Amino acid sequence: MEIKNICCIGAGYVGGPTMAIIAQKCPSINVTVVDINEKRIAAWNDEDLSKLPVYEPGLDKVVADARGRNLFFSTEVDKAIDKADMVFISVNTPTKTYGKGKGMAADLKYIELCARQIARVATTDKIVVEKSTLPVRTASAIKSILDNTGNGSNAKFQILSNPEFLAEGTAVTDLLDPDRVLIGGDTSTEEGKEAIQALVSVYANWVPQNQILTTNVWSSELSKLTANAFLAQRVSSINSLSELCEKTEADVDEVARAIGMDSRIGPKFLKSSVGFGGSCFQKDILNLVYIAKSYGLVEVADYWEQVIIMNDHQKRRFAHNIISTLFNTVSGKKIAFLGWAFKKDTNDTRESAAIYVADELLNEQSNISAYDPKVQAEQMYADLDYLNTRSSEENRNGLTAFDNAYDACKDAHAIAVLTEWDEFTTYDWQKIYDGMQKPAFLFDGRDVLDTKKLEEIGFVCYTIGKGM
Ligand code: NAD
Ligand code: UDX
Repeated sequence: MEIKNICCIGAGYVGGPTMAIIAQKCPSINVTVVDINEKRIAAWNDEDLSKLPVYEPGLDKVVADARGRNLFFSTEVDKAIDKADMVFISVNTPTKTYGKGKGMAADLKYIELCARQIARVATTDKIVVEKSTLPVRTASAIKSILDNTGNGSNAKFQILSNPEFLAEGTAVTDLLDPDRVLIGGDTSTEEGKEAIQALVSVYANWVPQNQILTTNVWSSELSKLTANAFLAQRVSSINSLSELCEKTEADVDEVARAIGMDSRIGPKFLKSSVGFGGSCFQKDILNLVYIAKSYGLVEVADYWEQVIIMNDHQKRRFAHNIISTLFNTVSGKKIAFLGWAFKKDTNDTRESAAIYVADELLNEQSNISAYDPKVQAEQMYADLDYLNTRSSEENRNGLTAFDNAYDACKDAHAIAVLTEWDEFTTYDWQKIYDGMQKPAFLFDGRDVLDTKKLEEIGFVCYTIGKGM
């Protein structure tokens, strides 16, 4: 079966970049990305490519290449679904904030709405692809909705799981050159195998066949949660040791290098930090914990929950270290934040460590002055307001955003580096030092700055995993 028209529901951090690459690499396929968020679709269609709603290095060129040719962004969801042979569901699956499973389970209401919408409008057979990250066995719920809530048209559906492994900040290169593409489907029927093959053929336009892995649908669903759990576990593991390093004068980077050279361990994802953030790690591990609990697997659940407990500790520990170092009070003191995004090269702030560190410091009545190359003030306020710790007005009084680092750091008692943006290493640190209160403290939560040089200037430096 040859795919000619693809519809992707959800024009977010995954749907947008993923479909842009499919369109670029498969000129014979028409790709329409739809979303109910009109503002987001308008931004994807903006002539000015700097206004795309997702910032990813290189994405603007890919969009410029394909948009209007075989890549379209639209709010006409029904129309795009009906026209498509293949419908990707790439909507958000956040942690539930209400009811059973609150704070743990994935909220699948957007997924269910998509399934019902597809069933309602489809007049021809469709392959429905789970691109969103979903709890294992969600495909059976989607199938049940598709098969039982139809419009009487006799349209038939095959369901595939095709989780996305891109990381933000490197989405374009990850999509162009993935370690593997994973496709799960119904391997027990001819129709199922044909559907799997149809999606394999799409990716085969640019991904070598031996890197396209096909499995049963449950393995595919569970592999995505597992991959994120393993990656986050590595970060929490090295972060747990960062605290021990600080007590013992071991250097966490040296430890990471020493263990990473063991080919069984490998060097990646061993960078100690102020804590992992992003929309995926925490959400997916909480979901894994919830699933394990729902099967009565208490030890399995507790094992993975520890990854989150360690991460929360790391963020809190960083904030408390700032407070204790500043003579046990930050009340009325200006603390400059360099970075607000959850990692460099993205404008995404979801679950960013910066938000939680700021929250702790605001509890102690400090004044935060924040600068991030890609994050605006309103996003910072929205992130703090979302925590519901204090009123929106108090958050606005407590935090001021700046459009450059020099102004943010002026008169500050301390600087905290929360994101590893490259530009931070290029600053005139003498100038920053001269404008600060003394002693001028610097807390590097990412180990990106050259502390030796900074100490020569006069800064009092703390680096995560290395101490003062
Ligand atoms: P996102 O919030 O950026 O985008 C989701 C979009 O779906 C939103 O624009 C929303 O308006 C739209 N939407 C929701 N319901 C809709 C509906 N019924 N009809 C049309 N549009 C609808 O989310 P994201 O970061 O792109 O993540 C999407 C999924 O991919 C999640 O399950 C996530 O876990 C997974 N994932 C994310 C990443 C990542 O790096 N962000 C990586 C891999 C997997
Ligand atoms: C992650 C997965 O890597 C990706 O495969 C999946 O599809 C989505 O979730 P993402 O969250 O975008 O991607 O970024 P990632 O590079 O994994 O970083 C996540 C967080 O961990 C960031 O806050 C990052 O700074 C932190 N991190 C990562 C560390 O602190 N140390 C490391 O060594 C690696």
